[in-house]
Amino acid sequence: MNKMAPIDSIQGTNIVIDTGWGDSGKGKIVDVLSGTADLVVRFNGGPNAGHTVVNEYGQFKFHLIPTGIFNPKTISILAATVAIDPLTLTEEIQNLRGKGIEISPRNLIISRYAHLIMPWHIARDTLREVARANKKVGTTGRGIGPLFADRTERVGLRVGDLLNPNFDQLLLRELDWNQRLVQLMDTEDPSTYNDLLSKQKILADIHAAQLVLAPMIANPQPVIWDAQDKGQNILGEGAQGMLLDLDLGTYPYVTSSHPGLTGFSMATGLHQVDIQRVIGVTKAYQTRVGEGPMPTELMGELGETLRRVGHEYGATTGRPRRCGWLDLPALRYSIRIGGVNTIALTKLDVLDQISPINICTHYEVDGQRYQVLPTADAGFMSAAKPVFKTMPGWNKQIIGIKKFAALPPNAQNYVKEIEKSINVPIEIISNGPAREEIIYRNNI
Ligand code: IMP
Repeated sequence: MNKMAPIDSIQGTNIVIDTGWGDSGKGKIVDVLSGTADLVVRFNGGPNAGHTVVNEYGQFKFHLIPTGIFNPKTISILAATVAIDPLTLTEEIQNLRGKGIEISPRNLIISRYAHLIMPWHIARDTLREVARANKKVGTTGRGIGPLFADRTERVGLRVGDLLNPNFDQLLLRELDWNQRLVQLMDTEDPSTYNDLLSKQKILADIHAAQLVLAPMIANPQPVIWDAQDKGQNILGEGAQGMLLDLDLGTYPYVTSSHPGLTGFSMATGLHQVDIQRVIGVTKAYQTRVGEGPMPTELMGELGETLRRVGHEYGATTGRPRRCGWLDLPALRYSIRIGGVNTIALTKLDVLDQISPINICTHYEVDGQRYQVLPTADAGFMSAAKPVFKTMPGWNKQIIGIKKFAALPPNAQNYVKEIEKSINVPIEIISNGPAREEIIYRNNI
């Protein structure tokens, strides 16, 4: 990687990823950094994500639209590796337009090669989860698993098909297969999904979406290469988190895409040598939504407090998030597998009134000590016993403080302790939800 530019702007190609199980506050970091981005590329996941952004236009929860959309000079790209729900995307575009934000082929490209989530994927997601009973993954129910399964099977519809004059025929063929599949899966009551899979409704909805989306459908690759050749600034916007990576996460309690650098490379054809910064967004404590192991989870009152103060409810499903202490072995693992070379530490202000604060320094598994997870596989992680270091809290409001040196000493110590333990600089600290509630460490 090249010599790094100051962190309050981006230069060259940078990506923003989450080092945990998602929900770290990436939306805000991307929003802040996209001010200097020529291109913002959303590269993984789909409408399972929920990125919250608070800025001068209001508060937004995006599932699909790249956060770069607020910068009029930025081109936002939805890459081929993103699962597109055409109805969700259309709704987001219409909402933004209603608030005066221009969205046109000039500033949004939807890859024609991306795959379309259709109502049958949503039905199959729900039915599979019900069938798994107490072994369910706890998915967001947005059709992600079935969509990516279809992609791997090389069936289904892609965004470019929306431009095909025979689109209705393609759709009706898929619908026919899926109606039969859903009936086979729904052993309880095969008519439950009749409304969701009604031919008339699906056609009416998709025709309305086609009108909105068609102008923005294109192949983004030449635009990406052109930006790279001109030395422009490209920002990769990850969704979910490293610990939810299909292969390297807490399998099987993972999502079906690649939330790290690998996912960005698959989406853009750009590689580690092309990238200046991989910004790992890390929440000052741990959260997880859905099933699967979480060694530092707090089950009692303290967990409730973190949830309440941190507003820890899923942006997509509204489910309460599980909360716990920061998990350094998992963070070190994510940094390593994600190629992370700088950290943005978020929601530090949520810990303002919590004292003492624990931090998981290592795990013990079968009498052995692990500083770094050797694998995030659910079997290993479920057996992990967290060992904590206790630090005093700061019992002061830090929201909006602009300089690191102005933070209470115990807050500084908490940040420095993490930094020392992971050996990667924490260059950004977010201490409030708004765009300007941020500390750049180079702003001493
Ligand atoms: P799916 O991606 O909907 O299939 O869900 C698989 C797992 O990933 C579940 O545990 C979800 O709660 C989790 N997940 C998916 N997307 C997000 C996200 O954006 N934030 C946090 N967790 C997510």
